[in-house]
Amino acid sequence: MRVLDVKHILCIGAGYVGGPTMAMIANKCPDYQVTVVDINAERIAAWKSDSLPIFEPGLDKLVASTLGKNLHFSTDVNANIAKADIIFVSVNTPTKTFGRGAGKAADLQYWEKTARQILAHATSDTIVVEKSTLPVRTAAAMERILHSGKSEIHFEVLSNPEFLAEGTAVEDLTNPDRVLVGGPETPTGQKALDALVEIYAHWVPQDRILRTNVWSSELSKLAANAFLAQRVSSINSLSALCEETEADIREVSRAIGSDSRIGPKFLHASVGFGGSCFKKDILNLVYLCESYGLHDVAAYWEQVVRMNNYQQSRFVAKMIASMFNTVAGKRILVLGFAFKANTGDTRESPAIQVCRELTAERATLVVSDPKAIPNAKNDLPDLTDVTYEEDPYKAAEDCHAVAVMTEWPCYEKLDYQRIFDSMSKPAFIFDGRGRLDHQALFEIGFNVYPIGRPPLSHLD
Ligand code: UDX
Ligand code: ADP
Repeated sequence: MRVLDVKHILCIGAGYVGGPTMAMIANKCPDYQVTVVDINAERIAAWKSDSLPIFEPGLDKLVASTLGKNLHFSTDVNANIAKADIIFVSVNTPTKTFGRGAGKAADLQYWEKTARQILAHATSDTIVVEKSTLPVRTAAAMERILHSGKSEIHFEVLSNPEFLAEGTAVEDLTNPDRVLVGGPETPTGQKALDALVEIYAHWVPQDRILRTNVWSSELSKLAANAFLAQRVSSINSLSALCEETEADIREVSRAIGSDSRIGPKFLHASVGFGGSCFKKDILNLVYLCESYGLHDVAAYWEQVVRMNNYQQSRFVAKMIASMFNTVAGKRILVLGFAFKANTGDTRESPAIQVCRELTAERATLVVSDPKAIPNAKNDLPDLTDVTYEEDPYKAAEDCHAVAVMTEWPCYEKLDYQRIFDSMSKPAFIFDGRGRLDHQALFEIGFNVYPIGRPPLSHLD
């Protein structure tokens, strides 16, 4: 196998993971040619333009520095498979919406199609790297497909899950806490792993590159996301209790997080976690546990997702109850639609459920977001009582309430007096992210409903 002279890297799937990761590899490894392919021609064209298909701080500069030099984007999947020594697969693996495991298991059709394409078009020994999050033991299935054909070509299937978070992708890729690589414990498997490690070793210190077997690597990705989501659900569950008592979730978070065994990160109470990974990966884990008969383990993790749904519904219930038990005909500003700040991504954003529940109550919504309006429109195509306005001041005019859905830093600097003045009275603000100065808002005249803290109301 030619594993020690890998020079052509291919990535199949030019999405949130494939695009930034390959841009970083091209940037750090000038001795490699990196090509990213996708079946979506519009996406590929956007990667080659001044207007990238995803918003990610610092990504435009990163791409521009290598585009056309050793970073290439193409729709020709087959020809590029033929040239590649190492292929990263980062196609989407959504949750199944049909058949067995619907709603929980991963839909592996894109993944399997890719495996068959690699088998059909590879011309020499190739290393295939799972980059998408996949259920444990998917690499085995991939391996079986790849070895079902031309026996003269040798494939090694490795797992290399991506841990970047959106909004901080460039920083996460530049300084990863760790890079995880899993490979078969065979001589050729270890050699392939060496070739993969060699790429990351261009900029990641060796002690941060963890080598495991394939299954540990696959499971660690699901487990890491499950742990992170569990922390958010844990603190959110306590936020409900805080609202019933005189405890303040920010104080509780600080007190808990100061314990060095627990640590302060991911303890920020919110309207709920979103993003393409957390829910999908937990449900994958749940399905995996169930399929091994581990029903108590499955139920334990499933509760993390249930708590997240509960938090979103609870937020809407509080809005309705505080606004005199009806939002029908009321205009509500949805401030932020992205699932977190610094991204235009809205996949699984809590704003989706909140908007749907509010319109079911016949509220009229104005959605504002600096980057996510195009995606928001795609998420709510069927809702007629929703308009979109990027300018938060215009969006707030005549609204009865503001629901803060995303912690965009620019929202902390808005002129809330101006917003208040243009709104219907009494004016309400429901802070689903807990970043605003609640006392200052109250003093302006808002009735303020934070998560996990007592409301500041002029109506009592
Ligand atoms: C996550 C993982 O962090 C990353 O390692 C993995 O590769 C992909 O999934 P991402 O979904 O991009 O990344 O964002 P993340 O920062 O983890 O936030 C997920 C959600 O949790 C967001 O909606 C965020 O607002 C929410 N969150 C996070 C909270 O509500 N409170 C917190 O304290 C932290
Ligand atoms: P992620 O967040 O995991 O990166 P995305 O949905 O952003 O997921 O990106 C996955 C990309 O994979 C999409 O752009 C999709 O068009 C692409 N894709 C899916 N199947 C194939 C395939 N068989 N060949 C090439 N690209 C594919």
